[in-house]
Amino acid sequence: MSGKESFLNKVNFKTGELSVCGSHNKTYLSDIKDLFRDKDEVYKRLKENPLIYETFYPDIKENGNYVFYGITKIHPGKIGKEFFMTKGHLHIPEQITEAYLCLSGKGMLLEQKDNTVQKTLMEPGTINYVGESSFHRVYNIGNEPLIFYISCNADFEHDYSLLENGGFLDVVTVDDL
Ligand SMILES: [Fe+2]
Repeated sequence: MSGKESFLNKVNFKTGELSVCGSHNKTYLSDIKDLFRDKDEVYKRLKENPLIYETFYPDIKENGNYVFYGITKIHPGKIGKEFFMTKGHLHIPEQITEAYLCLSGKGMLLEQKDNTVQKTLMEPGTINYVGESSFHRVYNIGNEPLIFYISCNADFEHDYSLLENGGFLDVVTVDDL
């Protein structure tokens, strides 16, 4: 499918899997090792290289005015005091906004805009709207997988420049609970 045709999908709320899934990506600690703040802990945990998060997407073209959607599943765990998280990004163009519907687990959405950081809780039933020009990342702050549905306009690219320039001004750790 390309996004032009109607189709039915079904998400498994326990596993995050989609019945119609075009891509299933896995991100391990080694893929985002530079993003966690506790470098000694990262080094120790790289031997086991835990799976941090997975994404499930149907095949919808990344250009054209289509609704893009998918599922993100962040596994429970910490590196030092910092919870497992997604990489984090900004949308280009910055006007592309996004919505998250939490299906299971407990999370924290971290957003940064104009040098201001905001943390918003995610739990089953919450709908987080990520506004324009917001650099965003999600943490799993619970003991179970955090599974949420994401939806936005398909016509955007990911910008990771903040991560290459010092990262977020704040992170989410056990001290936030
Ligand atoms: Fe996003």
